[in-house]
Amino acid sequence: MWDPQQYQRFQKERAQPFLDLVNRLPDGEVTAAADLGCGPGTLTVTLPARWPHATVWGVDNSPQMLTAARALPAQTRLHFVEADIAEWFPPQRLDRIISNAALHWVPEHQAVLQHLVSLLTPRGVLAVQMPNNHAEAAHRMLRESTQQEPWGSLLAGAEERFTIQTPHWYAQTLHSLGCTVQVWETIYYHLLSGENAVLEWMKGTALRPTLARLGQRLGRDGQTAFLAMYGQKLAQAYPAGPNGTLFPFRRLFFIAQRNEP
Ligand SMILES: C[S@@+](CC[C@H](N)C(=O)[O-])C[C@H]1O[C@@H](n2cnc3c(N)ncnc32)[C@H](O)[C@@H]1O
Repeated sequence: MWDPQQYQRFQKERAQPFLDLVNRLPDGEVTAAADLGCGPGTLTVTLPARWPHATVWGVDNSPQMLTAARALPAQTRLHFVEADIAEWFPPQRLDRIISNAALHWVPEHQAVLQHLVSLLTPRGVLAVQMPNNHAEAAHRMLRESTQQEPWGSLLAGAEERFTIQTPHWYAQTLHSLGCTVQVWETIYYHLLSGENAVLEWMKGTALRPTLARLGQRLGRDGQTAFLAMYGQKLAQAYPAGPNGTLFPFRRLFFIAQRNEP
């Protein structure tokens, strides 16, 4: 379950990689485009203005996120669809596919990339950003905390599941699928505001499976106890400064343009 409000607490920081990705897209006529894993739609809604002749689909498999997206002002060329990224077929081939901070939740990247490239028009572009931050202290401490008793036995199987390969792997795989590829990484040093800022960030994304399991097994008291323990570790690892809490965040990007057949 996604909570659009919690996710959007750091809207500016979460939007920046999307803007950086979209700004590097090649020019060219776009008549059909999709934003896969569009979430609450706040970034998807900017795409029809960028491509004035395009129909744009925002695709997500979270009913909560889609409810938030559909509550935004309607646009005639923009449609939100409930579907799985790995299985959705658009009504026509796509000139641009964007996916920001979503594909790491989807397994089997070889098959997924093959599917997504097959949806592109000749010279169509697949542009993806994924967090590549799972070695960062916040994630390491989350894994350690969920494995320690009294939590370990309760939380077995509820850990965060993500898929991410190396930059080299994406370059090679997309090349072998007939694309010209650019791959890069950026480390953002987000300066987060508010109390327990990194805990609040993690509650919006990686902590969701843990909190859901604790809620089922122990109710709100179990969630509160876990958050207090994990929050204390985070506060030590990421001390708040006078201007906010600095949170380093590595992200992997690629832009793959399908070669003409
Ligand atoms: C971290 S949010 C990113 C939302 C948006 N792209 C943004 O940048 O603000 C990840 C989104 O991916 C969606 N998602 C994850 N796995 C998915 C899948 N297999 N199919 C469709 N959507 C998926 C989630 O529901 C969630 O809305």
